[in-house]
Amino acid sequence: MKVFITGASSGIGEALAYEYAKRHQNENTIIGLAARRSEHLQALQQTLEACYNIKCAIYPLDVRDSAALVAAANDFTQQYGAPNVVIGSAGVSSGTLTENAEDTNAFKAVMDINVTGLVNTFQPFINSMRLAVQRGETAQLVGIASVAGIRGLPGAGAYSASKAAAIAYLESLRVEMLHHSIAVTTIAPGYIRTPMTDINTYKMPFLMDADIAAHKFVNAIKCKKRFVVIPWQMGWVARLMRLIPPALWDRLAKNAPHKPRLDCDWL
Ligand SMILES: NC(=O)c1ccc[n+]([C@@H]2O[C@H](COP(=O)([O-])OP(=O)(O)OC[C@H]3O[C@@H](n4cnc5c(N)ncnc54)[C@H](OP(=O)(O)O)[C@@H]3O)[C@@H](O)[C@H]2O)c1
Repeated sequence: MKVFITGASSGIGEALAYEYAKRHQNENTIIGLAARRSEHLQALQQTLEACYNIKCAIYPLDVRDSAALVAAANDFTQQYGAPNVVIGSAGVSSGTLTENAEDTNAFKAVMDINVTGLVNTFQPFINSMRLAVQRGETAQLVGIASVAGIRGLPGAGAYSASKAAAIAYLESLRVEMLHHSIAVTTIAPGYIRTPMTDINTYKMPFLMDADIAAHKFVNAIKCKKRFVVIPWQMGWVARLMRLIPPALWDRLAKNAPHKPRLDCDWL
């Protein structure tokens, strides 16, 4: 099994790396780990290689840097062949308000990382995956979206917009990849316990631990689900959210708690 994961230094991406390592230990498994914090990637590489007898290749990079992803994809493919699964889990979430001029950079960064970052991640792998499929291997692209992309959440305009864009982008990609027999899976998580949600002060319904979530994500990937919301209870919430007319949505969402703003310069 060959897997390439962005956002592997933390949270869901890290939990997915553990899950693949556990499931495919002692099986000639290669996991590519990409994120910006190289020290986290190195520590994860050491643990996974020592505990599960697999091989990890680490790629410290920013998903906004398309050239860095081309270089990582080339390196991974040349050394190990095309991955069976590429997972775009890198993402950021911050409270934003359009009325605040100082939030403009956060809007740009969130859209760049959460949407263009997916494109940058998948593009350099597609050709080698297409050729691998012709040789009889399996190939799958997986994007981590969010239930926050189903409807616009107040105080999270950038995040909601980025995840709505990710959902639509992944659907376009899924249909495009039919010609190449490359499967595309969109996972829309509800609340998962990670550093991203640790800063939330409000109640998070159906909050799920990252290791349990990763187990369910990998099951869904294995089944080649096209679109899945995890946990399933949030799937019903998402279905309901889609049905609510705009006037009622406004009344329900008006007093919803706002995502905390991240204290960073968005460089
Ligand atoms: N946790 C939830 O409840 C939840 C719910 C729905 C969707 N999601 C989505 O799940 C994904 C993972 O989130 P998480 O909860 O695991 O959050 P997290 O623990 O904060 O992890 C985010 C990961 O993305 C990486 N990342 C962020 N910006 C990056 C960049 N510019 N380039 C490369 N890597 C970058 C981070 O690594 P570095 O900082 O080292 O670069 C980190 O590994 C995100 O797309 C998020 O939107 C999460």
